[in-house]
Amino acid sequence: MGHRIYVDEQLTPAEFDETVDYNILSALDRAKIESDSHCRAGFCGTCRVTLLRGQVSYPGGVPLGYVREGEILPCCCVPTSDIEIRTY
Ligand code: FES
Repeated sequence: MGHRIYVDEQLTPAEFDETVDYNILSALDRAKIESDSHCRAGFCGTCRVTLLRGQVSYPGGVPLGYVREGEILPCCCVPTSDIEIRTY
């Protein structure tokens, strides 16, 4: 079973489907939810968002891109619960 990804104030969440999504960013792309990105590999930090609720993991290990406390890099992590993120 997938997890829901709530984004900003949007009422309809994106669905993370582990059979087709390899990270949170790909689930947002599939749901046609716009989000910033550049390298898509955990280096540049462009995709940084605030994790308001829930948990994620980084299957490829801790990324090099800079994040502050409470932020995540959706291009290289997956949700391990339903999550809520803020993109601004
Ligand atoms: S897009 Fe570069 S770190 Fe996510």
